Amino acid sequence: MGIKGTFTVAAIASALVMAGCKSGEGHGRHAMAELSPASGSTVHGTVHFHETSKGVKVIAKISGLTPGEHGFHIHEKGDCSDPGATNALGHFNPTGAKHGGPNSAERHAGDFGNITADAAGNATFKTVDAHISFDGPNSIIGHGVIVHEKADDLTSQPAGNAGKRVACGNILMH
Ligand code: CU
Ligand code: ZN
Repeated sequence: MGIKGTFTVAAIASALVMAGCKSGEGHGRHAMAELSPASGSTVHGTVHFHETSKGVKVIAKISGLTPGEHGFHIHEKGDCSDPGATNALGHFNPTGAKHGGPNSAERHAGDFGNITADAAGNATFKTVDAHISFDGPNSIIGHGVIVHEKADDLTSQPAGNAGKRVACGNILMH
């Protein structure tokens, strides 16, 4: 390889580094939860978390749902080992707040509200949430993502009366 070839390799490498910074909108760290069925459901999906300067961007794709709204939260533990996913415990709540919706003045850090499944049982969810992070007391790493049987009413304590847990996943750095 001549001098020209070396320059080309260097230019491509630097272009890749710049593209990485741009797409990350900040530090660019990424975490993910793979959702498995719970409570005898067929619900499954993936939830991606990207660190941005405005908070954590959350992108979920979930299927196997009954049509309509389903409570969608981060729970205390990423432990999905029992059939009903009860080992995930309650909502992720590092500030000792009351349950609410994603836009409530008071809410659990894990309160994403609801996802809405279409007639085929598929749901997508996208938000940027400043109540969660990848570091410190609000870090979501090692906590659990739970999808519920019913809608979260965003007001009932302590968890929005959303019924059984139909999918569960552990949030891992990716
Ligand atoms: Cu929940
Ligand atoms: Zn809550």
